[in-house]
Amino acid sequence: READKRTKLLEINKEAAKYFYKLLRSPRGEKAYAYFRKRELSDETMRKFGLGYSDQYSDDLYRYLRHVGYDDALLKESGLVSIDEVRGGHDKFWNRAMFPIMDVHNRVIGFGGRVMGEGEPKYLNSPETKIFDKSRNLYGLNIARTTRKPQLLLCEGYMDVIALHQAGFDNAVASLGTSLTSGHASLLKRYTKEVYLTYDSDGAGVKAALRAIPILKEVGIITKVINMQPYKDPDEFIKALGAEEYQKRIDQAENSFLFEIRMLEQNYDMNDPESKTAFYNETARRLLAFPEELERNNYIQAVADKYRIGFEDLRKLVNNLAMAGS
Ligand code: UTP
Ligand code: MN
Ligand code: MN
Ligand code: MN
Ligand code: MN
Repeated sequence: READKRTKLLEINKEAAKYFYKLLRSPRGEKAYAYFRKRELSDETMRKFGLGYSDQYSDDLYRYLRHVGYDDALLKESGLVSIDEVRGGHDKFWNRAMFPIMDVHNRVIGFGGRVMGEGEPKYLNSPETKIFDKSRNLYGLNIARTTRKPQLLLCEGYMDVIALHQAGFDNAVASLGTSLTSGHASLLKRYTKEVYLTYDSDGAGVKAALRAIPILKEVGIITKVINMQPYKDPDEFIKALGAEEYQKRIDQAENSFLFEIRMLEQNYDMNDPESKTAFYNETARRLLAFPEELERNNYIQAVADKYRIGFEDLRKLVNNLAMAGS
C-alpha cells in the first residue's frame, strides 16, 4: 500500500516534469525559454537538467493530471496542487521557470520553480512528501555521482549547479533550499571523501559554510573552501571569468580549519593586545580538536606563521589548555 503510493507519487512527478518540459519548448513557453537563454544556458544544458515551464494558467497541470487519471487525494499529496473545496484544484507552480529535482536513481521527486525576474519568493519548492525528503537528497547528485571524480563541489543553488556542470564541473551538487544536514553528509560520504564548498560569498554563505564544515567533518569528509571573491556565487563567477579561472580557485581552495580561523579573526581587533590575546586563546582551544601530535603541530605551525605568533608560544598555549582540561 505505502509502496504503491510512493510509486504513484513518483509517476505524478514524472508526468508533471514531462508536462513542464514540453511547455517550455512550445510557443507558450517562449518567455521562460528566453529567461534560460538570458542566463546563458544552452539547449543541451536545458535538456540535461530537464528544465521546464509552468504556465500562467492556475489549474492546467491539475486538469491534465486528472485527465491522465489521478484522483484529488493523491494529487494533493504530491504537493503539486492544492485542493480547495469551493474553487477546486490549483497548481502550486504558476508562471515559473521549472527545475525538476531528481534523486540518485534519476527519479523526479519534486521541483524548484523560479520567478522570471523580480518577485517573492524567488524560488518556490515542492513541499516534503512521502517521496521528497529535502534533508536526504542533493540537487545534481544523480549526475555528479556518475563522474567518479575524487571530489564533489557543494554549492547553494540550482543555477550554481547547472552553470558549473555546463562549464565542465559536473561534480557539483547543492542542497535543496535548506542548510546542510547530517543526512546530506551521510549521502555525500557514499560518493566522496572530499568536498569543496563553493557557497555564496555573502554573509549568509559564509555562515552556511561555517555550519557545514563540522557536519561534514562528523562523517569523516575532508572539506576545503573555494573563494569566489569578488563574485557572489559560482554562476556569476563563471559568467564573469570563465571555467579556467574557476579551476584556479579550486586549486587554491583553503583548508577548512584555516578558513574557520580566518573568519574567527574577523571578530577580533588584532591591534588591541587584549582582543589579540583572546583570539589566540580561542584559536588554541580549537587546535585542541586535533588529537594527533604531528597533525596538531602542523596546524599550530600554519596558524603561527599566518597570525604572527611564535610556534612555541602557541604550542605552549595549546598544551596548557590540554592540561587544564584533562
Ligand atoms: P540564492 O538566493 O543564492 O539564489 O539562493 P541563486 O541560487 O543565486 O539564484 P539565482 O542565481 O538568483 O537564480 C540559493 C538557493 O536557496 C534556495 C534555492 O535552492 C536557491 O537555489 N532558495 C532561495 C529557495 O529555496 N527559495 C528562495 O526564495 C530563495
Ligand atoms: Mn499552471
Ligand atoms: Mn545566497
Ligand atoms: Mn545566483
Ligand atoms: Mn546565490
